[in-house]
Amino acid sequence: APTTPGGPVVVLVGPPGSGKSTVGRLIAERLGVAYRDTDADIVAAQGREISDIFVDEGEPYFRELERRAVAAGVAAHTGVLSLGGGAILDPGTRDLLAGLPVAYLSMEVESAVRRAGLGAARPLLAVNPRRQWRELMDARRPLYTEVARVVVATDDRTPEEVAQAVLDAL
Ligand code: S3P
Repeated sequence: APTTPGGPVVVLVGPPGSGKSTVGRLIAERLGVAYRDTDADIVAAQGREISDIFVDEGEPYFRELERRAVAAGVAAHTGVLSLGGGAILDPGTRDLLAGLPVAYLSMEVESAVRRAGLGAARPLLAVNPRRQWRELMDARRPLYTEVARVVVATDDRTPEEVAQAVLDAL
C-alpha cells in the first residue's frame, strides 16, 4: 500500500452512513495497521457524546474540536484515519488534508436515506431526512471532492468491496 511518511496510510471522508468506520477497520486489518476515528477521539477527550456536544455547545464549537482532532490524527497516526462526515466543512480541516491519501466514500441520496435514516446520533438529519440529505450532499460534495485523492462509490457495494476499491485506487 502507498504510504505518506509519518502520516496516515489512508484517510476516509464521506457522509454519515457511507461506511467510513466499517471500511476503515477492514482496511486497517488488511494492512496490519491501527484504526482511529476523530469522532471517537473527541468523545474520549470530552467525555460526552457528539450529539451532546452539538446540543450543548453548538456546531461551530464541535467543528473546532474536530479540527484539532484531525490535526492530532494527521500528525501522530500512521494507520487508517476516518473523519466525521462534516469535518470537511471547516477550511482549516481541509487544509490539514492537503497531500494526504484521502479517499472519499461517496453515496447517492437514496442510499443515504436507506442506510442512515434519521438516527438521533445524527443531529443534522432529524427532520425531513430526504430533503436534508439532498441539501447536505449538494453542499458537501464539492468539498469531499476537493480534499479527495480518490472517490469510491459505495452504492451497491459491500464494505469488503469498498475496502478493496480504496486499496486498489490509492
Ligand atoms: C456529522 C457526522 C458524524 C459526527 C457528527 C456530525 C456530520 O460523524 O461527526 O454527528 O456533520 O455529518 P459520522 O460521519 O461518522 O456519522
